[in-house]
Amino acid sequence: MKKLAILGCTGSIGVNTLDIVDRFKDRYEIVALSAGTNINLLKEQVLKFKPKIVSVLNDHFAIKLREGLKPHNVEILHGIEGAKKIATLPEVEMVISAIVGAAGLVPTFSAIQAGKDIALANKETLVMAGKIVMKEAKNNDVAILPVDSEHSAIFQSLLGHRKRDVRRIILTASGGPFLNCSYEELNTVTIREALEHPTWQMGRKITIDSASLMNKGLEVIEARWLFDVPHEKIDVHIHPQSIVHSMVEYVDGSVIAQMGVPDMRVPISYALSYPDRLETGLSSLNLNEIHKLTFELPDEERFPALKLAYRAVEEGGTMPAVLNAANEIAVEAFLRDKISFPKIPQIIEQAMDCHRVKEINTVQDSLDADHWARAKANEFF
Ligand SMILES: NC(=O)c1ccc[n+]([C@@H]2O[C@H](COP(=O)([O-])OP(=O)(O)OC[C@H]3O[C@@H](n4cnc5c(N)ncnc54)[C@H](OP(=O)(O)O)[C@@H]3O)[C@@H](O)[C@H]2O)c1
Repeated sequence: MKKLAILGCTGSIGVNTLDIVDRFKDRYEIVALSAGTNINLLKEQVLKFKPKIVSVLNDHFAIKLREGLKPHNVEILHGIEGAKKIATLPEVEMVISAIVGAAGLVPTFSAIQAGKDIALANKETLVMAGKIVMKEAKNNDVAILPVDSEHSAIFQSLLGHRKRDVRRIILTASGGPFLNCSYEELNTVTIREALEHPTWQMGRKITIDSASLMNKGLEVIEARWLFDVPHEKIDVHIHPQSIVHSMVEYVDGSVIAQMGVPDMRVPISYALSYPDRLETGLSSLNLNEIHKLTFELPDEERFPALKLAYRAVEEGGTMPAVLNAANEIAVEAFLRDKISFPKIPQIIEQAMDCHRVKEINTVQDSLDADHWARAKANEFF
């Protein structure tokens, strides 16, 4: 039995992870769960998976959960200290890092320091502090297994090959719901339209990031650190069918791709079970129905977020943390109907233009840049 803790258990990745655990009760045991505010769902999960300890966003939600779970013997914690405790419990072997946004960094880093293997969905951890996170993982002999479907595809396409033979990594992107919109049309898109992703079911923030292509930008930075490949060797192609999840090109011109139906339970199950593969019972890829697989270059004029991410990784140091934080503020503002969709990358660029890059040597350096960028981005509404 592999003993698991899930950070972000009530989100899209968290729920899909619990679906896999439920299908393989003989392989996985849930020891601890961490959520934010969705107490009703967390309560259901506690009753079903019987963790011994859970954590929620703050004291208010902890009190509510305690009331709802009165006769049950489960320890209830809250806040960042609660999430850190969940991530570092002695009996936990693997932590599924699936909190959304910068809030995932500290508990994930704590888990790495405690020597836990990580199934990593929270890409912001590597965007904000990739250099020190990967160094800490190496020092503690921790495996970081990608949950992002693109990074899982790259991970699988690299297996059995030598890294020095890699010519480039090709990340695929669905292009999101606005792939064929003109710049003028982008000005008037609604929140509901932006949340209607054509191929993937995901949380709200990553769905908006997919629509702006910022998600792909964050993934470029994630891939840079996860696979230790310079950003110049990472390309992005739009692939609206979301069947080829990403590719690796080798120096002899061979391209190895990983394909499959767009279902996050596939990369999640591989991260949990690596190097085994689980017979998940999920649907097969039917190429007859798909007919064609297409690829095109992203349009950086209509979707400038991708260009901003390349600029951030090139400038290095604190700049990716600034990109990420400004994006979180701008996406939140869009979701509250305070700004138009094209204003998201504009706010990020303004924050980046004001930033003086510093080295990141500690998690605190990264958090400081994050706090600075949030305050700065708020000035541009
Ligand atoms: N969804 C996907 O298909 C997908 C694919 C690849 C990568 N990812 C990455 O995986 C991560 C999670 O994405 P998601 O789509 O699953 O997000 P989501 O559906 O919005 O879920 C986010 C989870 O984080 C929790 N949370 C939010 N803020 C928190 C805080 N301050 N402290 C503690 N917990 C907090 C939420 O709790 P409550 O809901 O209880 O408030 C929820 O459990 C993101 O980094 C995303 O980029 C997602």
